[in-house]
Amino acid sequence: MTVPVLTIDGPSGAGKGTVSRAVAKKLGWNYLDSGSIYRSLAIAALKQAVDLADEAVIVNIAQAMMLEFDCDDELVVRLDGEDITSQLGLESTGNAASIVAALPEVRRVLLQKQKDFKQLPGLVADGRDMGTVVFPDAEYKVFLTASAAERARRRYKQLIEKGNDANLIQITNEIEERDRRDMERKTAPLAMANDALYIDSSDMTLNSVIEEVLNLIH
Ligand code: DC
Repeated sequence: MTVPVLTIDGPSGAGKGTVSRAVAKKLGWNYLDSGSIYRSLAIAALKQAVDLADEAVIVNIAQAMMLEFDCDDELVVRLDGEDITSQLGLESTGNAASIVAALPEVRRVLLQKQKDFKQLPGLVADGRDMGTVVFPDAEYKVFLTASAAERARRRYKQLIEKGNDANLIQITNEIEERDRRDMERKTAPLAMANDALYIDSSDMTLNSVIEEVLNLIH
């Protein structure tokens, strides 16, 4: 029996996570947050204080790490038995994830872990290369983006609401740098699949984005 797959790719901060989770819940499908796999690897590498650009070392860590995802209401991620959920969303984790994710051999090693999420009754897969590399045969594909200024503003608001310090200019710079790294890397760069539906969420509400994605499937 074929498993329907919906891929949602796009740059960081476009709302992929929120949209993907809402759509997966509505459809009763499984959810793959592929960024959290790269983020978990980054946490493991930072913990061991190794050079993030040393491919052989990072590949070893990727092969050895034991990841468990619990997805009841909130996503809980355990790395070698330790709950790392609270570290996943940090800016430092995202930036380090983008560095280790640029290593071709690392992506190859993590490919199967991601494919394994494709199970009945269906899968919503969120990332950068879901529709191009990991699930090129997916029945439904979306490319969700927003302007860098809008993505920075949303991230800033989120941090302030959580009571953190935040600097809008610094966040904008980091977002632009991350976009550049994710788009310019040689292996599986952030790119829109030819057969994806393009959605620019800059001036859209969350609900209208979710509705547009659900319309694609119904
Ligand atoms: O979606 P995210 O912000 O959690 O992703 C963190 C980093 O991981 C992102 O900057 C690039 C990398 N990533 C990737 O290379 N491929 C994916 N499918 C998902 C994330």
